[in-house]
Amino acid sequence: MTKPWTGSSASSGDGSDVERLYRSLTPTSHEYFLEGSRYLPGADSRSTLFHLPYPLVLSEGHGCRVSDVDGNELLDFTGNHTSLVLGYGHPRVREAVRDQLDRGTCFPGATALGVRMAKLLCDRIPSVERVRFTNSGTEAVMYAVRAARAFTGRPGVAKVEGGYHGSWDDVMVSTRPAGQAGDRVRPAAVPASPGLTPGALGTTVVLPFNEAEAAARLIEQYGEQLAAVVVEPVLGSAGMIPADRDYLVMLRELTARLGIVLVFDEVVSFRIAHGGAQEHFAVSPDLTCLGKLIGGGFPLGAFGGRGDIMALFDPSGGGPRMPHPGSYNANPVSLAGGLATLEVLTGEAIGGLNARGARLRNRMRAAFAEAGLPAQVTGLGSLFAIHPVAHPVRAYRDTIGADAGCRHRIFLGLFTEGVLIDPRGVGCVSTAAGEAEVDRFTGALRTVLEGLAHRTR
Ligand SMILES: Cc1ncc(COP(=O)(O)O)c(C=O)c1O
Repeated sequence: MTKPWTGSSASSGDGSDVERLYRSLTPTSHEYFLEGSRYLPGADSRSTLFHLPYPLVLSEGHGCRVSDVDGNELLDFTGNHTSLVLGYGHPRVREAVRDQLDRGTCFPGATALGVRMAKLLCDRIPSVERVRFTNSGTEAVMYAVRAARAFTGRPGVAKVEGGYHGSWDDVMVSTRPAGQAGDRVRPAAVPASPGLTPGALGTTVVLPFNEAEAAARLIEQYGEQLAAVVVEPVLGSAGMIPADRDYLVMLRELTARLGIVLVFDEVVSFRIAHGGAQEHFAVSPDLTCLGKLIGGGFPLGAFGGRGDIMALFDPSGGGPRMPHPGSYNANPVSLAGGLATLEVLTGEAIGGLNARGARLRNRMRAAFAEAGLPAQVTGLGSLFAIHPVAHPVRAYRDTIGADAGCRHRIFLGLFTEGVLIDPRGVGCVSTAAGEAEVDRFTGALRTVLEGLAHRTR
């Protein structure tokens, strides 16, 4: 029998034992937070890292461990939000980057590294015939959507409710709407930030995730206006929710029929298989966006796909039809780190990673069941997320009622047990974490959940 989550709707500042322990272990982080707040709004430059009572200040990372400025050593299951698939400071990555630093950090010309990396990505992902490099996943999505608009001559973009595709206006829509925004099968478009370009909302259609029939109805309805459908094969920031294959197949068939460009955002999901989640699901998009892990810990994004669409960026027949400037585009240091990472991340390495991910998710589920606490553990491959809800989680909507206070206590509790996950309850396994680390994680989770179960008795 599982018990309902109780009495913890406040997500922090609640003076709980675990928060007091967090504070006692992190006095220097607190000092940095106070001092940093004088110069940086929120004491940082990355809003997703903020959590109450104040975020950690980290100082070092080695393998699957990170240290904070108070000397707490933590087993890391974030990999900088899935960026560091090999863990911190993999020797091959460090060597490649050091070598590139000696040669030069950026040039006013193309590099051999750019060609090697492009070839590697085109070889690994058959749907990617041509590719271009950016500095972030945000830019990759922005250019993919812009290319779709230029190619189709249509204005609209459809995205999934709960899908996060970076901070560009046209996709900063319904990323985490606070409540039930519109009908489940006909979600309303909700701005994810104040200050978006007026009109951005008007061209964005929000689709329900994993509701094939309802999504198809919306795509049919807006079809003639839609340049692109953008989707993550595994909904990442909403909590690592895998797509049903049928849903992706529907998107593929319908967009092909209606002349809409299908864009897979694989910034997070590329790690699922040698050729990305599209290989796992055996569904090929027209364009693919990449980021995070492909830079091996350095800023790098990429967008690529069908040759006829990517030809829009080819200036060799005259002036560029679509400009793609950027002082640090295809930065050689990032390319060196990324190439080394992808060379190590073979199909075999991914197989091992995914096996540990599956084991971790199973053991997490068992830990919740043993504690008698209702929760869902979602994920695919080496990705996981904890949802403190009793019902199955198949879309962002299913996560709305989750007990944020309990999720926060799990996050802080794991920290006090020496394990770091994302404050939103999501995480991943890196190749640096073996079976022993997976066991340590689940042991720590069990301890935290026992404490939580006591509170609910
Ligand atoms: C699926 C997805 N797409 C795009 C982005 C944006 O990438 P970046 O943070 O490099 O701009 C993110 C970032 O978290 C993401 O998770």
